[in-house]
Amino acid sequence: MSIKVVTTSPFSDQKPGTSGLRKKVTVFQTPNYLENFVQSIFDSLEGFAGQTLVVGGDGRYYNRHAIQTILKMAAANGFGKILVGRGGILSTPAASCVIRKYNAFGGIILSASHNPAGKDGDFGIKYNTGNGGPAPEKITDAIYEITKSISEYKILEAGDLDLDRLGATKLGDTVVEVIDSVADYAELMSSLFDFDRIKLLLASPDFRLCFDGMHAVTGPYAQEILVNRLGAPTSALQNCVPLEDFGDGHPDPNLVYAHDLVEVLYGENAPDFGAASDGDGDRNMILGKKFFVTPSDSLAILAANAHHVPAYKGGLAGIARSMPTSQAPDRVAARLGIECYETPTGWKFFGNLLDAGKATLCGEESFGTGSNHVREKDGLWAVLFWLNVLAARQQSVEAIVKEHWQLYGRNFYSRHDYEGVDSDRANTLVDNLRKKGVDLAGQKFGNYQVDFCDDFSYTDPVDGSVSSKQGLRIGFTDGSRIVFRLSGTGTQGATLRLYVESYEPNIAKHNLDTQEALKELIEIADQIAQIKVLTGRAEPTVIT
Ligand code: G1P
Ligand code: ZN
Repeated sequence: MSIKVVTTSPFSDQKPGTSGLRKKVTVFQTPNYLENFVQSIFDSLEGFAGQTLVVGGDGRYYNRHAIQTILKMAAANGFGKILVGRGGILSTPAASCVIRKYNAFGGIILSASHNPAGKDGDFGIKYNTGNGGPAPEKITDAIYEITKSISEYKILEAGDLDLDRLGATKLGDTVVEVIDSVADYAELMSSLFDFDRIKLLLASPDFRLCFDGMHAVTGPYAQEILVNRLGAPTSALQNCVPLEDFGDGHPDPNLVYAHDLVEVLYGENAPDFGAASDGDGDRNMILGKKFFVTPSDSLAILAANAHHVPAYKGGLAGIARSMPTSQAPDRVAARLGIECYETPTGWKFFGNLLDAGKATLCGEESFGTGSNHVREKDGLWAVLFWLNVLAARQQSVEAIVKEHWQLYGRNFYSRHDYEGVDSDRANTLVDNLRKKGVDLAGQKFGNYQVDFCDDFSYTDPVDGSVSSKQGLRIGFTDGSRIVFRLSGTGTQGATLRLYVESYEPNIAKHNLDTQEALKELIEIADQIAQIKVLTGRAEPTVIT
């Protein structure tokens, strides 16, 4: 087998976004497009000769093809060993688990998360470092720089490998080992949670659960953990057969896209607990019987109940949440006497805090929760955490959430997304806000007075790196907030995200409808940013 050096020329659009490089499948099919990016990843790294690389993806269309290419390129570039999930499958948290467990140098994860898949859908690729987490900006910036001037890549001339058979084969001088995609992850989960207690809960005739895999990567993980190990009936799983096009769905676990699950949990004879995970298995949505738990509340509640879980019994070092996430977790941290860190959007910003032992639990409003067990957010982990808490407290999801609000007050919270907006219009909106923001402090809008307005900037407390322009925040004197930012994961036009939050200590008002409770702030947001006029949209595309 010989190494071929292929001449190539740069693509100008390979800047990684919030979570790696995401483009239409058709873009990745452009000759050399994938190869350029993979070679740029390798060229940005040092000292990997003879080391281990982990490779896997969410199983979407083009996954298998991309993996064959990456294996041959990794071998040609001198990795000693490559661990690849069977069938090319590794959920994002499972990939993180495998990188850590086998002390790999890093990993390449193929996923466009919750974005639709298939021939006309999206594809994505990202690099994770040896701690199992997404590469920090320093590395993604370096990769991008290289993509702008790349002139050749290396690939081994070899036939395709059989990805469906477990075991090791040689690819040139490199050993490629196809591993069970689920086993290491399932093992890790059983080490964190009280499986015996959860088993008892699931065996009880008074408790039923429904898990929706959205035809994406988590199906086999849910089957092994929830059914085989914890004894849930197979009927508790739905949409758990992974498909290359995710069944033509949009595997984003929220009230809009996880409609199959919502129908069950809000229907007749609803189960007691419902959950769904996204395309690559790192997001989660938690539902009770006819009851939705916002991701921000979920993080706060898990933190407040962490002592029920064996892995976190000893206490939490700290909590971290992304800036647009509600401040509900801050209240729990204050009561626990621990720090609550506020980071920019994107899981990569939690890595340093977790590595330095400053935070134990992390979360984002975008249905992502996780802990120091891996360096990615983790959908099934959140499901198991909830089941562990439910088993320990023997109360319903709704009762636990409402008790939490009674104790801490309720942070009403909602995100409005305007998807596929013309990029120029979206940029104008943000530019206008930046200019306008300077004079906002002190101004009154209805019942609210602006306390501050800034463009969020974050200084990493561990390495001192600064990330600026991370979203426009308007804070009001009563602690309410409006945040605007543009998505860094979309593949078409721009997506404007508006995040709105208010705090309600009065228990009598906790049952208000969220959109109702936030109505005035939503109107103020439009008044200040001229959303309707500038986007040309009367309504958001998705409200969560
Ligand atoms: C979105 C979410 C963000 C999450 C990311 C990857 O990024 O908002 O919280 O980390 O997906 O799952 P965005 O599109 O807003 O840049
Ligand atoms: Zn995801």
